[in-house]
Amino acid sequence: MNLPRSDALVFFGATGDLVYKKIFPALYEMERRGHLQVPIIGVARSDWNIEQFRARARASVETHGDSFDEKVFAKLQERLGYISGDYAASATHAALRKRLGDSAHPLHYLAIPPSVFSNVVQRLGESGCARGARVIVEKPFGRDLASAQTLSATLHTVFDESDVFRIDHYLGKEPVQNLLVFRFANTFLEPIWNRSYIESVHITMAERFGVEGRGHFYEESGAIRDVIQNHMLQVMGFLAMESPPTTKPESIREEQVKVFRMIRPLSAEDLVRGQYRGYRDENSVARDSTVETFVAARLHIDSPRWEGVPFFIRAGKRLPTTMTEVLVRLKPPPLGELCPGRANHVRFRLGPDVTIAIGARVKRPGGALVGDPTELKVLSRPDGDEMNAYERLLGDAMVGDGTLFAGQDGVEAAWAVVQPVLDNVTPVHEYEPGTWGPAQAARLEPDCSHCGGDPAMAIVPGT
Ligand code: BG6
Repeated sequence: MNLPRSDALVFFGATGDLVYKKIFPALYEMERRGHLQVPIIGVARSDWNIEQFRARARASVETHGDSFDEKVFAKLQERLGYISGDYAASATHAALRKRLGDSAHPLHYLAIPPSVFSNVVQRLGESGCARGARVIVEKPFGRDLASAQTLSATLHTVFDESDVFRIDHYLGKEPVQNLLVFRFANTFLEPIWNRSYIESVHITMAERFGVEGRGHFYEESGAIRDVIQNHMLQVMGFLAMESPPTTKPESIREEQVKVFRMIRPLSAEDLVRGQYRGYRDENSVARDSTVETFVAARLHIDSPRWEGVPFFIRAGKRLPTTMTEVLVRLKPPPLGELCPGRANHVRFRLGPDVTIAIGARVKRPGGALVGDPTELKVLSRPDGDEMNAYERLLGDAMVGDGTLFAGQDGVEAAWAVVQPVLDNVTPVHEYEPGTWGPAQAARLEPDCSHCGGDPAMAIVPGT
């Protein structure tokens, strides 16, 4: 079927961090490649004029883009329009409808806090802005299982499901998709990818920076809602899913959802929350906030393939470094004395650089028959593809292709995993900025001989 191309792009939350860090650079890339032919309208509460909005776009591309060419940017800035107003006010949406002119298929991108989603959707419907339109919803989708269901129902009062695009930019990342290809396209890996050979799986998402002006968003979200319920579970799903019967997107998505449904809902014993010292002094953060900026979790998948294999997830802000990495540790071989220390592993660095490496032992030169650890690098690239993820996903949504977007069933199944530990079910422990989180996190992984002496560090530091 030939679906209509979106003929205008509207960004709600246009002065926010997401648009600044990811969307403007993606739009710039689209412009550079000649893939952008439509007007772009920013909507936000800030009382800005168009010049301020353009200046923001310029700063964004200069700071976060791969390159900057005045000619390309000049074309991009000509497309920009800006509407300042309250998201819930009818006047804002009336102004938007007017600005859309004869656009018949706008694409609305909702980069706004979950608490205002429903209002915006209703106003889009009432004002006529939703007619013939598509909508991209930025994660987290809702605040919990019940609100995700309500949000979906609200969206469906105005938009058809085929016009709803739930963005999780991890799904658009090359190295994340590579997890699937590397697993299923390699004969040497497929047979060992199960409880017989795998001891544990560690997924780490470390960020050196803090909430960086996103205090308001973060207070409503916290790390569990911000990255565990979505990005981290997507990665876990790709690592754990059964082989899809076909490579069609529906097949892959179905297998992904099956994994989410088999993950045991998290319990308080399997979760440690942390908050970096200084978080409470950030703008728009409550002085007595108990929102977590760090999470360590131990998850279990109740399936024959993964019975007894723990999946450890760690994600946090103000940690010693910025990187997202997966470490799959294999069980020790029979001749343990040949390889003291940990046995083999497979390591996937998902960002900011991209690596796939296999940890192996090779003989130490000399008289003794001992193995030394080494890594065979299968792939190593300096830069990740995070920006391309947004560029790709925006382009896909504009032509109505939902392949790389999250489905509602998966979203709900993922909420069911974290639901029991949302909010203040567990205490939040303070940690020093620049460390690997609170000391309490070590209790989830008591055997930490693999982590280079740092009890909070679950992974083999990449090189
Ligand atoms: C976003 C979160 O979805 O992902 C941010 O809201 C986080 O808190 C970001 O920093 C990380 O994305 P990436 O692509 O840089 O790993």
